[in-house]
Amino acid sequence: MDHDLSANWSRWRERVDDQLNELIPQAHISPVTLHEAMRYASIGAGKRYRAALVYATGQALGAEDAQLDNAACAVELTHAFSLVHDDLPAMDDDDLRRGKPSCHRAFDEATAILAGDALQTLAFEVLSAKNDNKRFIENQLEMIRTLAIATGSLGLAGGQVIDLSLVSQSAKTDTLKTMHQMKTGALIEASVQLGGLSAFADSKQLERLRHFSRPLGLAFQVVDDILDGTADTATLGKPAGADQEKMKPTYLSLMGETAARRYAKELIDNAIQALDEANLEGRLLTALAKFTLERSF
Ligand code: IPE
Ligand code: IPE
Ligand code: MG
Ligand code: MG
Ligand code: MG
Repeated sequence: MDHDLSANWSRWRERVDDQLNELIPQAHISPVTLHEAMRYASIGAGKRYRAALVYATGQALGAEDAQLDNAACAVELTHAFSLVHDDLPAMDDDDLRRGKPSCHRAFDEATAILAGDALQTLAFEVLSAKNDNKRFIENQLEMIRTLAIATGSLGLAGGQVIDLSLVSQSAKTDTLKTMHQMKTGALIEASVQLGGLSAFADSKQLERLRHFSRPLGLAFQVVDDILDGTADTATLGKPAGADQEKMKPTYLSLMGETAARRYAKELIDNAIQALDEANLEGRLLTALAKFTLERSF
């Protein structure tokens, strides 16, 4: 990974962990099991890719880290919620997440469902935190709206419904594209928008950032599909080969590895080109886009 990106990313990861540690009630506070499960599922692990997108976008527009912290935490809380629910027996039924037993295995199903619920509402709580800056308050409303839409029936939740409906089914690449854009792309796009809104980007900049984040979000899930079938469990921290075992159609199963990688590269090239046209200090974002393609977990 790019040196500069890697140094920034370590700092961002630390900031997110410190803040989640403050935001989520300590594990001794009642209801103890719920708070333990929320902390278990969200603190101390994960790439923090979505937080990195918030910080890198904000930084490209000249914002300080502190201005971006709430948005970064909100997207990571949303992501953590989605993983807890994604692993449930009614969904992917996976026992390993981020190198340890998934939330419903470490606790129980009811606790995992409720911990996911509470992580999701906490995301909106942090996004709506009190602020004295009038201009920022206006943008807060837009951020809440953006995250709500990305997580809802036309975004993440809807994409998960399509995903589950395709188990043991054959699918066309068009269907896969829609599903991936919804279940994964929507939150990645929202992360970039939240970074932009936190940094007071104007509507033109926000639009240009959408041109960047759209192919990026799709590429992220195409690579997730490829890694599921080509990397090992220890590296991934989640069960390798799970898609094939569950007979889920993926870009890997549909296209094969070479064509899927070529497609992901094309998407990343498009994202980087959009960034070049966006007229901002996009060095870290470009490096992040490259990481999306080259990542090994
Ligand atoms: C995994 O996301 C789930 C998908 C949407 C593909 P990440 O690969 O970002 O998972 P963590 O946060 O690093 O664990
Ligand atoms: C994840 O897709 C999408 C969401 C969690 C919303 P996957 O089911 O492919 O993610 P992993 O591979 O379990 O992380
Ligand atoms: Mg899934
Ligand atoms: Mg899954
Ligand atoms: Mg996957």
